Amino acid sequence: MAVDLRVRPARPEDLPQLVRLWRELIGFDEALGGQDFRLAAGAPEQWERHLRAHIGKRSRAAHVAEVEGKPVGFLLASLEQPPGIFMERKFGHISAVYVQEASRRKGAGGALVAAALGWFGDKRVGRVRVASDARNGLGVEFWKKLGFQTTVLTMDKLL
Ligand SMILES: CC(C)(COP(=O)(O)OP(=O)(O)OC[C@H]1O[C@@H](n2cnc3c(N)ncnc32)[C@H](O)[C@@H]1OP(=O)(O)O)[C@@H](O)C(=O)NCCC(=O)NCCS
Repeated sequence: MAVDLRVRPARPEDLPQLVRLWRELIGFDEALGGQDFRLAAGAPEQWERHLRAHIGKRSRAAHVAEVEGKPVGFLLASLEQPPGIFMERKFGHISAVYVQEASRRKGAGGALVAAALGWFGDKRVGRVRVASDARNGLGVEFWKKLGFQTTVLTMDKLL
């Protein structure tokens, strides 16, 4: 049966649920066992301010995925400026995308990215960058399926 899926811009009243979804995303990242994702004191309040700064802005956007009218996922997007030495004046950045486990593989993640790509298209952006933990096989497959290719290899050494 077709799922009742809708993607829309985030609204201020979504903030409490989006903070909960973000906390789940941090838990997912933490479980990958790579980078230290333990949260500092006041992190949820700080992240809520960060999220609020994506709502109703020209150079940032937040999208929400709803299934059966309930928010189950979100995406954050922004316009970034490369250093002035380059001809390219701007590029797109997707800094977070998350869909709750029970709602995955039903197209919500792809629909969130499609909404972001539409927003970037309106801004005449020619390139969109995402970063994924190399251990996140699920995330890497997701981005590949959506046409993203590896261009930069980032390496950490734990001391
Ligand atoms: C990545 C994520 C957002 C995908 O959300 P989703 O709603 O399941 O995505 P979709 O249903 O639109 O999947 C689109 C395609 O991505 C690929 N994909 C998604 N999950 C996958 C998985 N577990 N294994 C392999 N491929 C996968 C598939 O090709 C899928 O198409 P298909 O279902 O027709 O085969 C979700 O799994 C998630 O929140 N993961 C935790 C956070 C994360 O990894 N974020 C992204 C990395 S930075």
